[in-house]
Order: sequence, then C-alpha cells, then structure tokens
Amino acid sequence: MKTTGIMTKQTVFSLPLNQIRKDFPILSTNVHGKPLVYLDNAASAQKPLPVIDAIRRYYLTEHSNVHRGVHYLSERATGKYEAARSTVKKFLNADSEREIIFVRGATEAINLVAATFGRVNVQAGDEVLITELEHHSNIVPWQMLCEEKNALLRVAPINDRGEVILEEFDRLLSKKTKIAAISHVSNALGTVNPVKHMIEMAHRKGIPVLVDGAQAVPHMRIDVRDLDADFYVFSSHKVFGPTGIGILYGKAGFLESMPPYQGGGDMIKSVTFEKTIFNDLPYKFEAGTPDIAGAVGLAAAIDYINLFDWHVVEQHEQELLRHAQEKLAAISGLHIIGEAAEKAGVVSFIMDGIHPHDIGTILDQDGIAIRTGHHCAQPVMKRYGIPATARASFAFYNTREEIEALVKGVLNVKEIFGHV
Ligand code: ALA
Repeated sequence: MKTTGIMTKQTVFSLPLNQIRKDFPILSTNVHGKPLVYLDNAASAQKPLPVIDAIRRYYLTEHSNVHRGVHYLSERATGKYEAARSTVKKFLNADSEREIIFVRGATEAINLVAATFGRVNVQAGDEVLITELEHHSNIVPWQMLCEEKNALLRVAPINDRGEVILEEFDRLLSKKTKIAAISHVSNALGTVNPVKHMIEMAHRKGIPVLVDGAQAVPHMRIDVRDLDADFYVFSSHKVFGPTGIGILYGKAGFLESMPPYQGGGDMIKSVTFEKTIFNDLPYKFEAGTPDIAGAVGLAAAIDYINLFDWHVVEQHEQELLRHAQEKLAAISGLHIIGEAAEKAGVVSFIMDGIHPHDIGTILDQDGIAIRTGHHCAQPVMKRYGIPATARASFAFYNTREEIEALVKGVLNVKEIFGHV
C-alpha cells in the first residue's frame, strides 16, 4: 500500500508549507464554519498521512504479538517494532537500542524512573532537585517518591522572564541531591532551558539528570550523547506521532542497575514460583504486550520530520514566534507571560479584565484552537500570581496567516468585552 503523503526529502531553505499542510488533512477542515487555525500544538500535534497510513497498513497486513511467535506475522510485527526502536535510537543519537524503552508517554517515563531509580537511590534525608518551570508530570512523581522516602523535593526558582536562575540551580545541587529532573522546554511559557549546561553543572557534582523533552523534541534536534543526559523522555503525540506511546532514553549503566518497573510477560527470562530472572534491556522495562502500532506510528512520524532540515524548521518557528509576540504585545491590555531570551514556539498571555477561558471560547468560535488554563503547571501560574493564561503554541506547519488570524481574533475578544 502506497502512502498518501506527498512530501519527499527536502533540501530547501524555506518550508513548502502548502505541500506540507496537504499531508495534514485535519488542518484543512472547518470548525464552526471557519477554517481551522490550530495553535494548540504544545497540547498535542496533528498527524501527517504517512503516520496514519503506517498504522492502518500495520493493522491491515502486519499485526500479531511481538517477541512471542515463530509464525510469519509475529516475526513481521516484531521486525516492525524493533525497527521503530532503531529509528528512535538514531533520532536521539543514543548509543544503543538497549537504551530505548517504549512507554506510554513522557509522564510514564518519569514515573518509571522515580519508581525504580528513585526507589533504590533516594533515601530519608536525600534530595531531588527540579525547577519552578516543571509540568506536573515532572513534579508529582518526585513528590510522591520524596513523601514515601522522607526525602526533600527542592525547587530551583525562575526569574521574572521565566528563566531558571542558574546560580540557584547550582547552589541547590548538593551532596544530598540524588537526581535532578528538569524540563528542556517549558510547556507553559516556552522557555528553552540551557540543559547541556545544567547537566554539566550536575555532573560536576556527580548528580544524574533526567530531562523532560516533551516540549523540545518537536522543535529542535536532540542529541542525548551531546547533551550527556542520563535520562531523556518524550511523548510521541507531541512530535506528530500517535497518542499512548512515548520514549524513555536512559544510559545503559543506569538502566542496568535499576529494578523493573512492572512485572509481567516479556520482561522475564524465566519464572518459577520461587524466583524470576528478569530479561535484558530494553525488555526488562516493557512488561506486557506493548503498543506495537504506536511504535510503528512513532517511527513513521520520525521518518516524516526527518524529511526536513532542523535548521529550516527552527528558523520558521522562530519567525512565527517573533511575529506573534510582536503583534500580540502591541495590543493594549495584553501581557505576555514568559519572555525568556531563548524560547520555543509558545506564547502565553493574559488580558486585563478578561478570563483566559473566555479568550479561548471566543477564539474557538473563529475556528482558532489555543489552550487556556494552568497548562498542568500550577506552580508556574503561582509564580506570576495568576490562575491561568491563554497559550498559543506553534508547529512547523503553521503559517504567518494563522498568526494574523490569531491577532485578529484577540482584537475581536477585546471588542466583545468592550475594551476597545
Ligand atoms: N502537557 C500538555 C500541554 O502543555 C498537555 O498542553
């Protein structure tokens, strides 16, 4: 079955947006009778035809269970699943497929590390260091661990621009710190953290680092070996792949030393009622039938974004960001929250006298999808003394015209509230 996607390998200096958008049919649909303007990519990105086709083809012609059968389809499914692992390994520039664990998403990956590495290495009186920028998924698992162990969760603060105060981060990396868990890009503000530098700071004191890359992977090339990250996690659905699958990358040495997360089929070498011998990496962490179709879809998504030069993608998204920030900041009564020097394609804002939910609801009537609320980052909201923001977030398929539509929509919100 031939894929219906039309894009081929690009060696161009600007993105062929008309063609790209044809590969994402949902972008050409109408919402409330208006053309969809999809600016909620940080919540979940849309899927190109090659991803949808790969999943369909898999279920139509290739499906069975993996690692279990000697028959044709089981071997075929196993081949596809393991090929997907290789694709992810190359994508992250990991050392080996053994370091790539399929999980449900970034959230499960962090829970896995907290429940295994954390359970073994964090004891009473120890500390776990995070930052004030984190998503709940990089706070709560550590908080649960610290409560269980009687350990302390320390938080490196941010400045008014929404940047981690690096001196504070360094100061809080203490002899008691057993792991630092930091976001690469803030989902609420778009801040890009200098993670390579932060990892160096932690490593100088012998502290391992987990990087939550959920919001970074769609926007920039990730090289886990260059970063020297000990753990790096991301979700497929934010990087144009299917929901329900994601990746835990871990250095083999750490993964080897960690106990399994869940028990069940495939994570064992042998089982008796007296004793179980666990399987080798990566299977030790993949109990039960995995999301095979999800892995196939994620690999197709990676193949798709590999068609483009990251430099060109970044340039385009930065241009969208600059344009959006400039136009929105010029609207009186509108305040951008988070003005870090390094940002990915996220603009969070509030408007005087108008609740973000009202902004989102009115924009929706114009076909414009943004996210409003606390963005699963309540401590960030608390830092700014606000309950919520309106957040527009961009992907490489967004256009300058869509930014114009957003700005027009926001002006309309003001008019409806009589704030002209
Ligand atoms: N973490 C996702 C977001 O930022 C859901 O919207």
